[in-house]
Order: sequence, then C-alpha cells, then structure tokens
Amino acid sequence: MKLTGNTIFITGGGSGIGRGLAEALHKLGNKVIISGRRKERLEETLKANPGMSALELNVQDPASVQATAEQLIEEYPDLNVLFNNAGIMLFDDAAGVIDEDVLVSTVTTNLLGPIRMTSALIEHLKSKEEAFVINTTSSLGFVPLAITAVYSATKAALHTYTLSQRYMLKDTSVKVLEIAPPWVQTDLLNSNDEPRAMPLASFIEATIKVLGTDTDEVLVEEVKLFRSNPGPNEGVLVTQFNDMMKSEPPKSH
Ligand SMILES: NC(=O)c1ccc[n+]([C@@H]2O[C@H](COP(=O)([O-])OP(=O)(O)OC[C@H]3O[C@@H](n4cnc5c(N)ncnc54)[C@H](OP(=O)(O)O)[C@@H]3O)[C@@H](O)[C@H]2O)c1
Repeated sequence: MKLTGNTIFITGGGSGIGRGLAEALHKLGNKVIISGRRKERLEETLKANPGMSALELNVQDPASVQATAEQLIEEYPDLNVLFNNAGIMLFDDAAGVIDEDVLVSTVTTNLLGPIRMTSALIEHLKSKEEAFVINTTSSLGFVPLAITAVYSATKAALHTYTLSQRYMLKDTSVKVLEIAPPWVQTDLLNSNDEPRAMPLASFIEATIKVLGTDTDEVLVEEVKLFRSNPGPNEGVLVTQFNDMMKSEPPKSH
C-alpha cells in the first residue's frame, strides 16, 4: 500500500506492535488515530508523537465500536485505513475445562472485534478512492500453540474471514490486507525479554518494508515457515513446535 497521505485508525495503538506501527506510519506522513482501553497508554503515546490523535475504545463492547466509528467518520472524514490490531492472548487448557471468561473475552476481542469494527466503517471506507482494511492475525493461526488454543483458533478464524472480505470487496476501492506476525517482543505473553521472539523494532522495520509493496499478506521472513505449513501434513510441525514450547514454555505460563 501507499505509505503516505493516509488517515489511519489503529485499534490497540497504545502499546506493542500497534504503537510501533502507529509511530512508523505517523513519521511517514500519515494522519494516525490510535485507540484502546488504557487512557494512560494512549496519552503516553500521544505525548511522544505530537500530531497523533487518540480515542478510547473497547472492541469487546459493540456500543463502543459503534460510537467510535461514528466519531471517526464525523471528526476524521478522510479516514481511509482501518487497522484491526487489538488482541489479547491468554493461556487455556484444550484438554480440560475451558474458563468461560478466557473463552468469551478472547473470541470477543480477537474475532468479533475486527468483524464489528470493519462492519461499522465499511460503507465509509467504500466511499474513499482508495481504502484499506488491515487485519492482524498471527503465525499461531497457521501453527497453533496448544496452550493458547482459543487464541490460536481466533487468529485462524480471522485469517479465513480476511480471505472472505478480500473476495467480497474485490470490485470496490477497499483492499484487505493481513499482517501475520511471528513471536514479537511485546507485553503479550510477557515476551518483552523473550530471546526466541523477534525484537519489536526489527519487526516494525521489516513490516513497514513489506507493507509498502502491493502484497495482500504482510509477512516477515521469520513467519514464512509457519505460513506455509497448513496442508495434509501440517501435524508434523504442529507437534514439533508444541513439543519444543512444552520443554521451554513462555515465561508467563
Ligand atoms: N507479540 C506477538 O508475539 C504477536 C504475534 C502474533 C500476533 N500478535 C498480535 O498483534 C496484535 C498486537 O499485540 P501486541 O503483541 O502488540 O500486544 P500488546 O502490546 O498487548 O497490544 C495489544 C493491544 O490491544 C489492545 N486491546 C486489547 N483488548 C482491547 C479491547 N477490548 N479494546 C481495545 N483495545 C484492546 C491493548 O490496549 P488496551 O489494553 O489499552 O485496551 C493493546 O494496546 C494482537 O492482535 C496480537 O494478537 C502479536
């Protein structure tokens, strides 16, 4: 996509990947509006990036999604990029009892959130000469991490939803992109110091390079093995990966 002159709304732009991409896109000459639940994270990000804007949003709440969409259209009529980045990742036990709060909050945030957010803004986006919906999935949508089975399933679901959106919007001005990050050093899974995860700055730099091309899937080198795994023999890598993660679990598990 063209990396300058857009008006971009990012969910979950006050931390991690969302903040990193918000700052990079802001520096490249785009109007960037970040959002999330934690006001202090949004304020901190705005302070470090004069000219950026923010809106409080809870993507789990349909009323908040609707109100945010209406406010965006009113205050930022040039809005042409919706970047569904917000997500949560919690541990679960697919071999046992699934905690109801983990299940509902994860599906509501990671899957219903992007679907509702896009639905609330799609007619506005279609009215723009060139518009983009960007969905953040994960390497774990292609090779699940079994100790976060619900999370992995939401990302696989968002991947297929993205394929449907792209097909349904192919004759419109709206392009649908997917960013599928590998493990990246952020607050997610308490991974800021995790040596097996990609440093955030390197991920942002590599992602911006790919985002600037005309690809539909924004993949950095580190995720390509996982991206190409689905198929009849996918179980081999799923087992290898999960055995490896079992022998050295993420820190916060
Ligand atoms: N880090 C990785 O290894 C990795 C790998 C693959 C994919 N991803 C995906 O990348 C995206 C960003 O994650 P991250 O790693 O940057 O972690 P992060 O720093 O925890 O970012 C997640 C963001 O989502 C926002 N969020 C969560 N629930 C929300 C809600 N109900 N309403 C509005 N915003 C909400 C959070 O803001 P508030 O808490 O303030 O609301 C936060 O800014 C997620 O979709 C994640 O699944 C990450």
